[in-house]
Amino acid sequence: MDNEHVRLEDAYAVVTPEDNRKLYARWAATYESEFVTDNLYVIPQRVAEIFVDVAGHLAEHATADADRLVLDVGCGTGLIGQALTRSDGQWVIDGIDISPQMLAESATKLGNDGTPIYRRLVAADLTGVVDIADGAYAGILSSGTFTHGHLGPDSLSGLIRFGRAGAHFAIGINAVHYAELGFDERLQRELVAGTICDFEPRVVEMYLPGSPHFGDTAVVAVFRRSR
Ligand SMILES: C[S@@+](CC[C@H](N)C(=O)[O-])C[C@H]1O[C@@H](n2cnc3c(N)ncnc32)[C@H](O)[C@@H]1O
Repeated sequence: MDNEHVRLEDAYAVVTPEDNRKLYARWAATYESEFVTDNLYVIPQRVAEIFVDVAGHLAEHATADADRLVLDVGCGTGLIGQALTRSDGQWVIDGIDISPQMLAESATKLGNDGTPIYRRLVAADLTGVVDIADGAYAGILSSGTFTHGHLGPDSLSGLIRFGRAGAHFAIGINAVHYAELGFDERLQRELVAGTICDFEPRVVEMYLPGSPHFGDTAVVAVFRRSR
């Protein structure tokens, strides 16, 4: 693997958080100009659309910033933030990611008014303990980060406490990874335990027709924190 041509297969071959740090340090500069463009990668937009569908009322009717504060998990170069900003609502968006180089790309993303799209960008490994207060967010979104060699069901369960009671989640999970690692079983367990409610898996295409990866799907796990 060289710097210029990281392939999807390289990304799927990582195993540890340290592998991820190294991969994305090399990939950050060309992630959008090569991977996203060449492969017609659209899952960030799909997750943002689904989130707006279930939680758009938050941004439209919020009277305080806390009511429209959302977290983009594994924000990478900031594509979910860009997509949310293009929707009607006024969101306040934080991002978290293991890669300082990917976060640096997110930091360059500006809204129509020329201000940064992300209010705060946090470097952290989501397989470990993360310094975010319980109940900090009204919404939590993710795309491309729950996939082979990246994050598994334990990290998904770990996200739940970041949402306040009633918080909306839209978490995109590679569909093969979803089945292989038992995400559905985990989410059913969370439902039975009463930590989440209103769970609905929505299957979406991750790439547009014409992409070499067209046909690869993600399950967007839509749910709410119940308590
Ligand atoms: C395929 S990129 C997706 C980025 C963006 N959300 C998108 O859809 O374009 C996966 C992201 O997950 C991050 N990541 C991988 N392992 C992680 C971990 N253990 N903790 C936090 N972020 C991680 C990577 O740094 C990378 O930015």
